[in-house]
Amino acid sequence: EQAKLGVFDHFMIKEINEQKFTIKRAIEHDPHLINNITEMINNAFGVFLIGCGTSYYSCVSASYLFSKVAKKHVNVILASEFRNYENFLTPKTLVIAVSQSGETADVLDAIKFAKKHYCKIVSIVNVMGSTLTRISDLVILMNSGPEICVLSTKSHTSQLAILTLLAYSCADRLNDGKLLIQKVCDNIDNIIHDNVEKLKHLANRLKDSRSVFLIGRDLAYPSALEGALKIKEVSYIHAEGFAGGELKHGTIALIDEAVPVVIFCTDMTRDLIISNAMEVKARGAYTIGIGSRNNEAFNYFIQVPDFGDANPITMIIPVQILAYYLALQRGSDPDRPRNLAKSVTVK
Ligand code: AGP
Repeated sequence: EQAKLGVFDHFMIKEINEQKFTIKRAIEHDPHLINNITEMINNAFGVFLIGCGTSYYSCVSASYLFSKVAKKHVNVILASEFRNYENFLTPKTLVIAVSQSGETADVLDAIKFAKKHYCKIVSIVNVMGSTLTRISDLVILMNSGPEICVLSTKSHTSQLAILTLLAYSCADRLNDGKLLIQKVCDNIDNIIHDNVEKLKHLANRLKDSRSVFLIGRDLAYPSALEGALKIKEVSYIHAEGFAGGELKHGTIALIDEAVPVVIFCTDMTRDLIISNAMEVKARGAYTIGIGSRNNEAFNYFIQVPDFGDANPITMIIPVQILAYYLALQRGSDPDRPRNLAKSVTVK
């Protein structure tokens, strides 16, 4: 049943709609497993979070959460660049690998390299029995069910849910973390249904754009990176995500009337990101705000309630839907984008 389309036209939109269930399943784990991993994180001398593509962006989000919630520094490294950190790998190092497939060559290579240095390995994986699960000391399964569309959607939000839970657990607040994520799940249906028509309309407005920029600050910065990847992969429109504060360091030179800018506006970052939105609007950009409150800096607005530390889980959903409709309106296949494979088994 999970591998059939049912009432949906494509797996991408089916998997986006499944998220209220998959996120809930992602955090249902034996408390002993969560406790063991929490101890490993708290006792490690050096923690590395590694992944590729979307899974890497989940790691970037998690680094903010570990810092804010658990007051813990973790290193976030692209799996393909991990070997450069050889001098910091010891038997006391913990490497947490995040991968939907558990078969990504760059991730497996990094883990084999870490094992040569006797590091401990924890993995967060969706596919049970995959190579990564077999070479890890401990595994947390995402339990998302099969993700058929080449684009990661439900696996990304499950990764975020698990990593959020771990950050809360490291701060001895596991229950608070669970309650927060459950609250998110209860709101996902509304976020989708209240915005789907607006996002379809927006896709029509943006479908001929040469480039789309996405900006965010704080926890919304990794959402901007992931949102850009979603748009690129499936619509083939150039998209770039960056931190709001970086605008003035170069990219603002590219802003003109032809460039739509998506602004992730969390309650925590409102003042500064609105001022960035004003800067790009003043240069003619078409501004699209995603957040809990509209503002005159936005030409178009998608309302998503603010969930604090869980914002990365909810704020990406409208961009997943936007990317889906951009693909449809540009005549591309959302489930099988050109040049991409679901699992990248070559280096
Ligand atoms: C995301 O939409 C992509 N399909 C891609 O970036 C993917 O996340 C990356 O290849 C990593 O895959 P993994 O999670 O299976 O390791």
